[in-house]
Parts: sequence; C-alpha cells; structure tokens
Amino acid sequence: MVVQVVIGTQWGDEGKGKIVDYLSKDAEYVVRFQGGNNAGHTIKIKNDVYKLHIVPSGVISGKIGIIGNGCVIDPGVLFEEIDGLSKKGIVPRLLISNRAHLIMPYHKLLDGAEERYLGEKKIGTTKRGIGPCYSDKISRNGIRMGDILNKTTLSSRLDQILPIKQRILKAYGFDEVLDKEEILDTFMVYGERFKKYIADTHLVLHDAFEKGKNILFEGAQGTMLDVDYGTYPFTTSSHVIAGGCAIGSGFPPSNLTDIIGIMKAYTTRVGEGPMPSELFDDVGIYLQQKGHEFGTTTSRPRRCGWLDLIVVRHACILSGITRLAVTKLDVLNDLDVVKVCIGYRLNGKPIDYFPSCIQDVSICEPIYKEFSGWPEFQCPKTFSDIPKQAQDYLRFIESFLKVKISVVSTGPERDETLKV
Ligand code: GDP
Ligand code: IMO
Ligand code: MG
Repeated sequence: MVVQVVIGTQWGDEGKGKIVDYLSKDAEYVVRFQGGNNAGHTIKIKNDVYKLHIVPSGVISGKIGIIGNGCVIDPGVLFEEIDGLSKKGIVPRLLISNRAHLIMPYHKLLDGAEERYLGEKKIGTTKRGIGPCYSDKISRNGIRMGDILNKTTLSSRLDQILPIKQRILKAYGFDEVLDKEEILDTFMVYGERFKKYIADTHLVLHDAFEKGKNILFEGAQGTMLDVDYGTYPFTTSSHVIAGGCAIGSGFPPSNLTDIIGIMKAYTTRVGEGPMPSELFDDVGIYLQQKGHEFGTTTSRPRRCGWLDLIVVRHACILSGITRLAVTKLDVLNDLDVVKVCIGYRLNGKPIDYFPSCIQDVSICEPIYKEFSGWPEFQCPKTFSDIPKQAQDYLRFIESFLKVKISVVSTGPERDETLKV
C-alpha cells in the first residue's frame, strides 16, 4: 500500500496536475485537501487538455476523487466542471466531504470588495471568494456541504449570516442586495444535485487505508502561498504544506510517508507580493513565453525568475519532502547561462533561510550560482539522455536540498516524464 502526498514547493503552478495524473495510475483514491477553485491544474493527454479547478486530477485516469473537508467549494463551478468532464467522456467518480465549506455568492462579492478597498496594496487574489469563505469557516459563520441537504438548516444559517454580510458589503460601497429566498432556492438545487456525492469522507479514507488501498493526496497552490509560512499577507487562506493534508482530509499524519515536492525548474508567481529571484529582463520574458506562463485560472501573466533554492528548502523543511519531481526542465533549454539562487543578502548580510517578515523579503537580494546552459533536447527516455549540463544542474539541486529527485518532466504530455 502507498500513501503519497503531492505538495507545491514554490508559488503554485509547478505542474502538480501533470504529476498527480502521472502518479494516479497506481492510486485508487485521489484527494484534494485544501483550497478551492483558485487552483488550476492542467493535464495534457495527446490532443486533450483538461484544466481542473476543484475536481481532483485523478478522475482523468478513472480514479475516485475525494474533495476533503479542508477544501472550499463553489458549487456552481463544481457543477460546470463535472458537466464539462462528462461532455469529454469522463464521468467523474466523486465524493465530497459533508464538512467542506461552501463559497457563497457574498464571498465572491467580498473578495472583489476587499481587493478594491486595498487598492495598490491588493493581494491580487483570484477573486473566487476563497479568503472570505475561509474567514467565515474560522469565525464559525460558514455554511458546509452537509447544510445544503436540509432546507430548515440552511434557511436558519442564512437568517443568521446574511444581514451582517449585507452590512459589510454596504460598508465597502456595494449596493447588491442579498436575496435570501434566491440563495436558498439555488443552494437547495445544488444540495439535490450533490447529495449522491456527499459523505463522511474521512471514514472512506480510513476504510481504504485499512484495506490497503493506495491513496494519493493532491495539494493545491504552493508552499509560499501557505497562510502561515508563505509571503503573508500575499498568500492564499489555507494550509498548503503537508500538515494541512491531515487536517484537510481527516487522515492521520502518521500515515503520510511519501511526500513528493513538485518543483518547477525556475520560479513563477501570479498576483502581488515579493519574489526575490524575479527577472525583469529578456530572460524573464523568455521563460514566460517559452513556458506559456499564463494563469490556468485567471489567464494573468505569471512573473518569472530563476530557481530559488531557499524557497524550495523552506518547502522541504516544512513538509518533510521525501523526494522531488522537477517539472519544465525543457523550458530552460537553449539558454547560455542558467542561474540558481542559493542565498540572499539582507541589509548587506548573507542569509540562508526565508525571512518571515514581508518587508525583509522585499529587500532580499538573491545570491546566484551559475551553470552553463544546454542545447534543446527531444523526449529523453532516461536520465542519461538529458544533456550533461542539465544533469549537473539537477545533481546540484539534490545536493543543496539533500533530497532526491525521482521524477523529471520535460514536456506537458503524460509520457514526457522520466523516472530517475
Ligand atoms: P499546477 O497548478 O501546479 O497543476 O500547474 P498548472 O497546470 O497551473 O501549470 C503548469 C503548466 O505547465 C501547464 O500548462 C502544464 O501543461 C505545463 N507543464 C507541466 N509540466 C511541464 C513540463 O515539464 N514542460 C512543459 N513545457 N510544460 C509543462
Ligand atoms: P494552483 O493549485 C498560483 C494566488 C493568487 C494570489 C494569492 C491569493 O494552480 O497552483 P486567492 O484567490 O487564493 O485568495 O489568491 O494566491 N494563487 C495561486 N497562484 N497557483 C494557484 O493554484 C493559486 N491559487 C491562488 O494569484 O496571489
Ligand atoms: Mg495552476
């Protein structure tokens, strides 16, 4: 039996969807445990491209997808995603935790309102209502998946919650009227539609574990977006690191043994907030164009920079990463020089850790090690097919992080994946 956890080690979009799809072939259950439809996970199989936001990526290979209690769900988006997959011939086998929180219409309005209020200091959220939904969960004003199975329960929750939301929206200068009856009716329809999926998913996972089934946990976002350990406040609102997996699925942490960090061969970030190794020159544009670095969820251009090993080491420490999957190595082909950040200079002093204070992060100057570039390569079948300079680059990463690289991805296709 294998229990694996996939974690993004940077600012998201590392290629988790592709690697989850690759690992899914051996799994029976694929589980999302945090985040919502702020995520965008891409899977490319020949001419088909799937962009999944809330449905676990394992459903593409026919595995049972579980959306755990730590996720926040926009039922309209989930609805569309299931229908979109069905049209492509994939009828997802899905289970949804009755404890997962619902993204309500006012969460989306509030996400926009908060960003507008922040003006130049905005976070650059996906405006999907993620932050306001998690805020309501923690302040115990949330509505959970199980609540939409019972009209009386939902009605009384809305009576309690809506008047205060209406006032907050007004304070932000929004005139939209929250129509209780309309929300109640819409969500009762969702309840009817989703009731066949809603379950005590922690018990399903417990049972699967007892029976020795393989389970794969699919992280969303990346470590630097973790609400505690990322570049706060320029983060998302969930626990992205491996610890979040246990909380967000009800699966005991002692059973999580194989924790796979997904690391893009360079760095990208969408939204605002500092990124020490960001490039503002032609190389940054080259990476953006060659890597098609445009958001899967919002289509915003991703900021690009050299690989930052201080960031990835932060992720390895926090999640106890046992091995790495390196993605998008091919995007670095054909450069004369490839650089990697191995430390920062902060106020003139060298440091080798990621600072907690955002002001410090914003003035960290990267210290780089340089590697010779390597020529374009075509579909390598083994590690030794990769140019020697690229092998040196990967071996250095392993020795710096003291973590083995076990997968190298050299293209978006399923079969452009090497076992090391
Ligand atoms: P995720 O959010 O971590 O799942 O990543 P995204 O799907 O948002 O972004 C990764 C993008 O890179 C997608 O368009 C993938 O199809 C693509 N991709 C994944 N692995 C590779 C790779 O090794 N090489 C190239 N060129 N593209 C890749
Ligand atoms: P995947 O799973 C990249 C970023 C947003 C913003 C910040 C907060 O595809 O890697 P939110 O809407 O979560 O409140 O936005 O987090 N962000 C992501 N960036 N990949 C993601 O997911 C992201 N999910 C959120 O751009 O900066
Ligand atoms: Mg993505």
